[in-house]
Order: sequence, then C-alpha cells, then structure tokens
Amino acid sequence: MKFTGCKGLRGEITVPGDKSISHRSVMFGSIAKGTTEIHNYLQGADCLSTIACFRSMGIEIENRGGLVIVHGKGMRGLQKPDAVLDCGNSGTTTRLISGILSAQDFEVTLTGDASIRKRPMKRIIEPLSLMGADIRSIPENGCAPLRIRGRKLRGISYASQVASAQVKSSILLAGLYADGETRVTEPYLSRNHSEIMLRCFGADVRTEFARSGEPGSHGTASAASGSGPSGSAPVSSRATAVIQPAAELYGSRVDVPGDISSAAFFLCAALMLPGSELLIRNAGINPTRAGILKAARSMGGDITLYNEKKDSGEPTADILVKSSALHGTVIEGADIPTLIDELPVIAAMACFAEGETVIRDAAELKVKESNRIAVMAENLTAMGADVTETEDGLIIRGGRPLHGTVIDSHADHRIAMTFAVTALSAEGETEILGAECVNISYPEFYQDLEKLKIF
Ligand code: S3P
Repeated sequence: MKFTGCKGLRGEITVPGDKSISHRSVMFGSIAKGTTEIHNYLQGADCLSTIACFRSMGIEIENRGGLVIVHGKGMRGLQKPDAVLDCGNSGTTTRLISGILSAQDFEVTLTGDASIRKRPMKRIIEPLSLMGADIRSIPENGCAPLRIRGRKLRGISYASQVASAQVKSSILLAGLYADGETRVTEPYLSRNHSEIMLRCFGADVRTEFARSGEPGSHGTASAASGSGPSGSAPVSSRATAVIQPAAELYGSRVDVPGDISSAAFFLCAALMLPGSELLIRNAGINPTRAGILKAARSMGGDITLYNEKKDSGEPTADILVKSSALHGTVIEGADIPTLIDELPVIAAMACFAEGETVIRDAAELKVKESNRIAVMAENLTAMGADVTETEDGLIIRGGRPLHGTVIDSHADHRIAMTFAVTALSAEGETEILGAECVNISYPEFYQDLEKLKIF
C-alpha cells in the first residue's frame, strides 16, 4: 500500500474494541457458568483465533459482529479438541490459554504462525511447571508448538523477571484451578485487565503493592489496595497479584472499551500533523495501559479527556487531541509496560519532536510480533531519521525531515500502522510491504485513517 502526506487529521473516531480485553472476555466466559454477553468485541484476527480455540473445545460462541455471546460450560466444561489448537499470530491466546489448559484432564497441542513459533514460551513453561503442569516445547527451544497435559495444580508464589500481563494472566488462570493461593510478583505492574475482569466473573483476586525502597518491599507487600486493581493503581510500584482457587466463575456482561493501542496511531498522527484536531471516542484509559497519554503529554502534546467513566470495571474517556509543538523526553522503568505496544508509534512521533527522546528498559520489544527495536531503527533510518538502536530501546534525535521510502512491516501490525501515519508527515511516497497485517488488531484501520485526513 502507498501513502503520501496530508495537512492533518480532523473529526471524530471511535476505534474498535480493546484486543486484550476482548481475548479475556471469551476465555473467561468459556470457563464460566452461564452466558457471557460481550459488546464491542474486536473482530481482529487475533481475537478470532481465541474464539476458534474455544469453539474447538466444545464451547458454543455466537459471533454477531459487535456482539459475541459465549455459552460457558464452567471450570470443568472444556472438551479435548480434535486437532492442534491454532493460536495464529496471537501471543495472548497462546500464553493465557496455556494457563487454563494446564489444569484440564486432557492433552492438547498448541501452535501458531511463523512469528508465534519464534516467541519465548519458557516464561510460561517455567511457572506452570512449578505449579505441577506437564507442559513442554515440542521443538525443545522454548517456543511453540507446545504440548500440554493437564494435571492437578498447586498454588505457588512466583517472582516473574518480566513485567508481562501475559505471563501474570497465564499463572492466575492456572491459579483458579490450584489447591491453594497463587501469587505472582512482577517488577512493575503490567496491564491488570485480567484481575479486573476475573473479579467481575466472581473470582477472588487482589493486587498488593510494594514501593521499592520502602519497608516491606523485599518479599512482602507493604500496602494492599483496598478496592483491588482499579483506576487508582500505583503503576510505579512492584506489584503482586494474588488469586484464590475458584469453584466456579459466573458469566457476565462485558462492555469492551475502544483500544487505546489502536487510538495511539491517530493520537500521535494528530499531534505530529500541524492542522489537526481529533476527538477519539470511548477509549480505554486504564492507567496500567494508557501510558501513551502521559508520554505524549510529557512531549508537549495537547490532550484533554472528557466523559470519563467506567465500563465493566475499566476506565474510559473521550480524548481530544490537538496538533502540538513537541519536544523530546525520556521513557523508562515502570512506564514501559503501560505503553509497550505504543513504543513504535511514539518513536516515530519523536522524529518530529525537538531534541532527543530516549526509550530505555524496553528490551521486551525485541520479542514482540517482530523485533520492534531493530525494525523501527531500520525503517525510521530508511526514511531519513536520526535514530540509534540500543540494547533495550532507541535514541531518537528529532527535527530531521523524513522522506518516503519502501517500508517492510515484517508482518507486524503495529509496524504497518506506525508507518502509515509516519508517511503522512513525510515528503513523497511511502510504500508499506505486507500492509494487510493490520487485520490482526484493526481490520478497518486504513479506511478509518482515510476518513480523517485533510489536505
Ligand atoms: C498483552 C500483554 C502485552 C502486550 C500484548 C498484549 C495482553 O504482552 O504487548 O500486545 O493482552 O496481556 P506481554 O505480556 O508479553 O508484555
């Protein structure tokens, strides 16, 4: 696909449903008793993979577009699938489902596309094995395909090396089936959608926080969050999610907010392009997830929130964005998990900011759908940007004009969308190879972008 510049983005947009929340709603609905009604379910390929996996384990799921109805069969209602479960391109499907499958009374093999088969699974194999699961990487390289034989599980107390919601959620889901309490501590709080939604489905899950350096920060948590994971969760502290075994979960209604990760492309484009004023309606702004708002503001971005409310326990808002004179910033530490998927588009935006932007502590980017550090450095450099790739991030010196070129998306949806919006601020034509991969998280992305452009 080819893109050329425009003056700005104007108007209103409602982005599709949140990918992380959509996945969880079908997974939890499938192992809950009764019906789960999901409004605004994301129809991206990743979330369709999750539906397909649970259908092949005997769960009836009606997909009526915006509305998905899951006829849950309870914690013990899944059936052995006839074939290998195909998780497609979806890390969330692969890792979260593994937690559930570790406790079933059947054997299953999980796999996915070429990208999924390169992504690290040791991070879930290790804790799930400690819980008693029989789970192994068939090629013995720590990657999928995975063979899982369900077992009786025991509760564990696990310190994860990475702040990863997929790892945390996989363990918590296994913890629902364990014989006692399960605790997962992560260096920084990662997105807490599982904790919020599991509570709505009746699970006993809470989050404890320990600020590093405070008494109690070594092993025991110093402060329990009274109301559990919520909009006020302190994202800067080490966090422990604690779950009790559940006899049953109960079907619920889920209203999926707009995906802030999808909104991020329009938000950054509007900030970069001089003639922009854009209203993004009903986007999720959960602070464990919406670090893009903080980062963009710290770069001088003019962003105002309206109509703040909560849907199914998740905070949402309308976001008004106006083009802004941007300057460099430093993005690091506890903020990284809150904007991990937005770092590619933030890096692109930094090319249009005055001064230097440093992104560090983000080595996780190397093990996403592509190596996003290398791919961003390669593609931004090809457009004329001044970018240095580091071990755990990028340094971008803004201010150089960018020019169009041929961009390889490496079949990574967030890379394709990042360069579709970067092209709007570049001189000449940009061609994106493999542009159709946006289908993974945002099938109508190009059409929606087209509608907002002004010339
Ligand atoms: C996700 C968690 C993040 C994120 C991914 C979705 C989730 O991955 O990058 O797009 O839904 O839990 P990690 O848990 O690997 O950081």
